[in-house]
Amino acid sequence: MPSSSKPEPRLLFIAGSAREKSWNKKLARLGENIADANGIKATFADLADYPMPIYCGDIEVNDGPPSNARKLKALMGVHTGIFIASPEYNASFSPLLKNAIDWVSHVKDDGEAPLQVYKSRVFAVGSASPGGMGGLRGLSQLRLVLETGLGALVLPDQFVVPKAVDAFDENGHLKNKDNQELFKVLIQKLARAAHVLHG
Ligand SMILES: Cc1cc2nc3c(=O)[nH]c(=O)nc-3n(C[C@H](O)[C@H](O)[C@H](O)COP(=O)(O)O)c2cc1C
Repeated sequence: MPSSSKPEPRLLFIAGSAREKSWNKKLARLGENIADANGIKATFADLADYPMPIYCGDIEVNDGPPSNARKLKALMGVHTGIFIASPEYNASFSPLLKNAIDWVSHVKDDGEAPLQVYKSRVFAVGSASPGGMGGLRGLSQLRLVLETGLGALVLPDQFVVPKAVDAFDENGHLKNKDNQELFKVLIQKLARAAHVLHG
């Protein structure tokens, strides 16, 4: 890990699916394990543990953002790099993920600039799908939201797992060792970028 007075980078791995057997959770968990095995502090967060109502302005006015949006934002805040693995739904990313992103974007803590939690982290994105394109098309939509909507820095590199049903072994590793290595390289790059830009 980089040697400087800055704190070490911490990476958060999130999947845009709450499904128990989600391929994207498998990918996010694999990312956490790879980071861990390479000396990078890492956390996996399961969105199933952060249920939130579909965003509605009336809920926000009457009750404020849900406590799980506050909790998720706080978790994001203690990590400097965030990897999101999202399913592709009809060429976009999942509504579960969009809803969580939207709610978190409306949690504002005292003295904080708008969207600070997005603007002060580095993101990388990936996807897994039973289909042959691996969910690639949804990632351009996710990038649009993160970069244009929220002002986040998203690494140009991304990681896609096509035909996910056959891609993972029984330990959750990618059977294709070259692909597993490529994923490791992306995670290491995310950690370096997070360290350089945000400490
Ligand atoms: C409404 C809907 C739309 C979908 N659209 C796509 C698609 O455009 N491309 C694709 O590769 N898979 C598509 N899928 C299949 C998902 O990739 C598949 O269900 C995947 O397993 C979901 O991710 P998860 O395993 O992480 O839950 C779609 C699934 C649903 C429910």
